Amino acid sequence: MSQRAAKLDFPVSQVRRYLEPGPIVLVSSARGNERNIMTMGWHTVMEFTPSLIGCVISGGNHSFGLIRESGECVINLPTTKLTDIVVGIGNTSGADIDKFEHFGLTAEPATRVKAPLIAECHANFECKLADDGLVDKYNFFIFEVVKAHVATSPKHPQTLHYEGDGVFMVSGKIISRRKLFRPGML
Ligand SMILES: Cc1cc2nc3c(=O)[nH]c(=O)nc-3n(C[C@H](O)[C@H](O)[C@H](O)COP(=O)(O)O)c2cc1C
Repeated sequence: MSQRAAKLDFPVSQVRRYLEPGPIVLVSSARGNERNIMTMGWHTVMEFTPSLIGCVISGGNHSFGLIRESGECVINLPTTKLTDIVVGIGNTSGADIDKFEHFGLTAEPATRVKAPLIAECHANFECKLADDGLVDKYNFFIFEVVKAHVATSPKHPQTLHYEGDGVFMVSGKIISRRKLFRPGML
């Protein structure tokens, strides 16, 4: 039997459906007395040490100003338990509501930044803006993770991965090929 599937032309604007693996995160921010949360799928690891993460934060989002001006945020990792809240946060504006209050989430003080952690999330990564050189052109922020908090269990949290069009894929089966990796590649 052939290993090759038949393929059709595919709209390039929809390639994101295959290359946007997630996991979906919630980005919390603060400016003065104001705090906010947005849902984010467009992020990428850029370096291990320092721990650099690149993200697209649209200029139309209320979070954009809070994060650009404070130079800080927290990247929080929700699990499937928070699916409807993740969608709600991504479809409302911090200009209209306090999303912590509205969605019943707990804001906990962070260690290295003023933006709050979201207690209900599996992990919280405190970030400082490391480079805003691509913000004006692409809304692309480069953050350094300066402190990380991760729940001890479950070891493999069930995370959400956005496919676009309101559909999520859920992380699942874990497989290991550790033995085939070159030393130092882990
Ligand atoms: C699943 C999902 C993923 C999203 N990913 C991003 C993203 O990567 N970057 C972005 O700028 N907006 C993204 N959004 C949209 C923002 O979360 C949305 O505009 C939100 O209302 C912004 O909140 P704010 O205006 O309070 O900052 C996403 C929304 C959803 C539902």
